[in-house]
Amino acid sequence: MSHDAIENLSHENRSFAPSAAFAAQANATAALYDEARADRVAFWERQARELDWETPWTTALDWSNAPFARWFDGGKINIAVNCLDRHVAAGHGDQVAYHFEGEPGDTRTLTYADMLREVSQAANALESLGVQAGDRVAIYLPMIPEAAIAMLACARIGAVHSVVFGGFSAEALRSRIEDAEAVLVITSDGGNRKGKALALKPAVDEAVVETPTVRNVLVVKRTGQDVEWTDKDIWWHELVGSQPETHEARAFDSEHPLFILYTSGTTGKPKGILHTTGGYLTQVSYTHKNVFDLKPDTDVYWCTADVGWVTGHSYVVYGPLANRATSLMYEGTPDAPHPGRWWELVEKYRVSILYTAPTAIRTFMKLGEDIPNGFDMTSLRVLGSVGEPINPEAWMWYRRVIGGDRCPIVDTWWQTETGGIMISPLPGVTATKPGSAMTALPGISAEVVDDEAHAVGNGGGGYLVLTEPWPSMLRGIWGDNDRYVDTYWSRWKGLYFAGDGAKLDDDGAIWLLGRVDDVMNVSGHRISTTEVESALVSHPKVAESAVVGATDETTGQGIVAFVILRSGVQGGDDVVTELRNHVAHEIGPIAKPRQILIVPELPKTRSGKIMRRLLRDVAEHRAVGDTTTLADGGVMDLISQGLNTPTSSED
Ligand code: WT7
Repeated sequence: MSHDAIENLSHENRSFAPSAAFAAQANATAALYDEARADRVAFWERQARELDWETPWTTALDWSNAPFARWFDGGKINIAVNCLDRHVAAGHGDQVAYHFEGEPGDTRTLTYADMLREVSQAANALESLGVQAGDRVAIYLPMIPEAAIAMLACARIGAVHSVVFGGFSAEALRSRIEDAEAVLVITSDGGNRKGKALALKPAVDEAVVETPTVRNVLVVKRTGQDVEWTDKDIWWHELVGSQPETHEARAFDSEHPLFILYTSGTTGKPKGILHTTGGYLTQVSYTHKNVFDLKPDTDVYWCTADVGWVTGHSYVVYGPLANRATSLMYEGTPDAPHPGRWWELVEKYRVSILYTAPTAIRTFMKLGEDIPNGFDMTSLRVLGSVGEPINPEAWMWYRRVIGGDRCPIVDTWWQTETGGIMISPLPGVTATKPGSAMTALPGISAEVVDDEAHAVGNGGGGYLVLTEPWPSMLRGIWGDNDRYVDTYWSRWKGLYFAGDGAKLDDDGAIWLLGRVDDVMNVSGHRISTTEVESALVSHPKVAESAVVGATDETTGQGIVAFVILRSGVQGGDDVVTELRNHVAHEIGPIAKPRQILIVPELPKTRSGKIMRRLLRDVAEHRAVGDTTTLADGGVMDLISQGLNTPTSSED
């Protein structure tokens, strides 16, 4: 018998079937599910055959050394050739690969032929610096075309890139360079952010003093600001610009390392998530084509993620280029120089596929729909979401205000570790429900289990696990295989535990419930923060909320909610009472917050995830802990100041 490891409280009855017109033209059909079910590995082989292999594989999947997978063993392939050369060779050299828009409004258009030329020059430049296959290269750049060019140049010569988000500190950069023993750092003088030229080079200067493995620093000139110069430094335009415009690529083993991407662990040192070549490209191109329904000849695709995150790797660079997409790449923040900037770009480039994060959607909700309503966004036809559970009301807002009630929404669940999308609707096939990632993609096996690893069944809540290996799975943690096994494979034998809570509704659709570390225990009921947050956001006065469990003498933990109101709504005791009652009404009295605090902002990481740990400190009246990964350092002061205002109520 299974029992719920997490309560299933909320119920959502809205459902949106794909339109007949969309279904008729969709890349994916329901046959994909049948095909994958019949023979999962053969299904992946068919996807892999969409790519150009120099040598075909001999073994599709070797899982004999689980949890260390080998996919398409014996095969040899070059990623950059698949992303660029083959499209140019097929006559698509003049197609735009990237429309680049800088924050100050400068633009660049890079065709596939341009990309091939620049990547070839960069590959020659790296080789001239002695960078060899297997060497690690750290990339610390803003969102500019050189970021993609640098990644592809590494891939082309078999060097392993480690992209470090440009918003990270010198110390974060240093520890990542050190862990990977990088031989080269590619950076820029700076980048443009919120109207300012933000320096990057000083952080590199500081980091490389303590990282003797770094022989050179290649510096892209982006802002033109002054930089200090050392004898390791070389200007990108001088070295790369003077290289031959062609480069003979050789193929690498399918399991050759492609990149390391560091993700913060719950404690201590960041984990260098390792991805390899053939399986990775297979899954990111397959998912990009089918989940976003990409039509290479007509779509303009925009994934708003920074290349510093895995979303930027898989769905700004590798997936779209493998599929010959025309993409928009934007340097700046959503609100610079004005809060309608994104929608202005959708109008300007006639963006047809938009892939972004719930945190951005909720921010736009807070600002009000008048802003997007001022732009022509009729070009949009598919909307995507990633990074966190999307609250049903944010989903509905996204659908109505951004998608004009006509675009399917794909809520895509995956992780840095999974490399590519794992759980998502297929537009044109799946009827979607607001707030649900729906089902595992064809070829992917996911389940929701209880503490004893028994499937909870429909209507039940528990832990999300992956039960079979998948092509773009991580191959380990750089330099620490034991940590890989401990972190992901030790809770239950043979199951990959993602760290997320989830539930199945009565139809078997999957609803993500947030990280299990955040689950609250109220009088013995295991309640997900996501469900209470979604109930709050379903109130018309609320734009965003974060919920935490705070120690409570009587109930074990009490629910404390932090709420941002929509613009123009006044806070006060009345609102707090109304919201508490609203939660009780929506999902039951057990979930009624003990306390609601109206706040102007929420603490988020630089990738937009709410830092509940800091809010727990506030709720438990402790000094606020380590805030170094906060996107905006001042937020916690704002929140703490608000604590003594009458808008916080306890009864
Ligand atoms: C964690 C992974 C995947 C690229 C960006 C984040 C959460 C991600 C969803 C979603 C609910 C989601 C999970 C996951 N997450 N997508 N659609 N619905 N939660 O990559 O930084 O490695 O984070 O993000 O908690 O485990 P990441």
